[in-house]
Amino acid sequence: MLDTLEAEKERFLAALKGVEGEEALYQLQVSFVGKKGSITGLSKKLGKLSVDERKAFGKELNRVKGEIQAALDGRRDELRDAARARDLGRVEDLTMPPKRPPRGSLHPITIAQRALIDTFRRMGFDVAEGPHIEHANYNFDALNFQPDHPARDMQDTFVVDDRRGGEDLVLRTHTSPVQIRSMLGRTPPVRIIAPGTVFRCDDDATHSPMFHQIEGLFVDRGVTMADLKATMIQFTAAFFGRALDIRLRPSYFPFVEPGAELDMQCPFCERAKGSVCSVCKGAGWIELGGSGMVHPAVFEAVGVDPEVYTGWAFGFGIDRMAMLMYQIPDLRQMFDGDVRFLRGFSN
Ligand code: PHE
Repeated sequence: MLDTLEAEKERFLAALKGVEGEEALYQLQVSFVGKKGSITGLSKKLGKLSVDERKAFGKELNRVKGEIQAALDGRRDELRDAARARDLGRVEDLTMPPKRPPRGSLHPITIAQRALIDTFRRMGFDVAEGPHIEHANYNFDALNFQPDHPARDMQDTFVVDDRRGGEDLVLRTHTSPVQIRSMLGRTPPVRIIAPGTVFRCDDDATHSPMFHQIEGLFVDRGVTMADLKATMIQFTAAFFGRALDIRLRPSYFPFVEPGAELDMQCPFCERAKGSVCSVCKGAGWIELGGSGMVHPAVFEAVGVDPEVYTGWAFGFGIDRMAMLMYQIPDLRQMFDGDVRFLRGFSN
């Protein structure tokens, strides 16, 4: 039995060397001196020994138990010291402020869109919205496009291959269908702007298949084209900080009559200081978009009496506005999603 005791002690000391954590140390302790441990097992046999043997073996047993306990304590202290040393040896400075993930910034088009909304809101316009997937009827027919109008051609319009509810659907090619949505079932006055994404099958240096427009619509009794011009001048004053001249050039859109291209005096020419302005290329004017007086056929399509009400509408590109604000040379940069480009903007 003495031999067994000695052998168990050796086995314990050998195992102790391999112990690397407090949990493993505890397991080791249990398997030797726990309730069912091997050393504890030996002590249970004391009763079978003679008095002398019991005395001698008991003494040895206590000595070995003491050694084991001391070894356990020693190893536990070592492990704790090592852990503490590791902790203190860490190079991180826990008092340093944490590294924050990059915060990102708004896209220049979002910034421009919000600024436009802000300006028109203050001028008394409500913000209206419409879906990107639009009834062909709202995108074209109700806006007085004849069934054979070339803009309805597949080349320009993304047709949605799903006739939900038996209706033709398209990706809206402009924000003008929001005119229809905001007049249907409503009695004027109507005064809204409708910013948002539009889609056309175009893709080159100056055209993206997805771009952004802002629509304006004002319908009431006695509204004239003079109101349109005055509103646009007031808009430039609020947006660019000084009133810019507005030029209307005769043009054609099926849903307005008369129709006009809407130009704004170039706000950047001053900066050119004698040399040719790089923004308007010396023209002095910047083309914003289309405009005109709401066509009577549009009023009829939405149940507004054209004998009682008149109105004007405009629609222009937000992307171009953002390019002007930030002097972005290439339209495609705005949709590439390159963070190096986006990082240049703050708001
Ligand atoms: N919807 C026209 C376009 O996308 C612009 C426009 C809007 C013209 C309102 C007249 C009135 O080109």
